[in-house]
Amino acid sequence: MTNEELISMAKKAMENSYSPYSEFRVGAAALGKSGTVYTGVNIENASYGATVCAERCAMFKGISEGERSFSRIAVVCGANRPAPPCGMCLQVMTEFMEPETGEILLEENGGIKVYKLKELIPLAFKL
Ligand code: THU
Repeated sequence: MTNEELISMAKKAMENSYSPYSEFRVGAAALGKSGTVYTGVNIENASYGATVCAERCAMFKGISEGERSFSRIAVVCGANRPAPPCGMCLQVMTEFMEPETGEILLEENGGIKVYKLKELIPLAFKL
């Protein structure tokens, strides 16, 4: 699975974004250690706080199928700019991705920029 393939799976998934309130479409594709890719979209709600982000949607699909670790996650949005994960999604990532090796792929300047999870959330909450 190349980074380009993972990004294009996130883009394909984004077509199913349910975002009538913000009209901000997000798609994600998380590569599990098993080799399976789980895609997700943002799913909004009239009660705004009930909205789920694309990244958590993708990871939760995998986790509910028995996946416990992801090596990479691609995130894209409908606007012509990078879509860095929000703090809550980063915190969830710290539970299921290695901080030093887990990678977040974003589209930047017409290319793919690869961030290590540790770069985006250097001091995650842990119990
Ligand atoms: N959103 C995501 O899907 N991922 C993020 O990491 C940040 C925000 C969604 C939630 C909402 O549907 C829309 O973007 C605007 O906040």
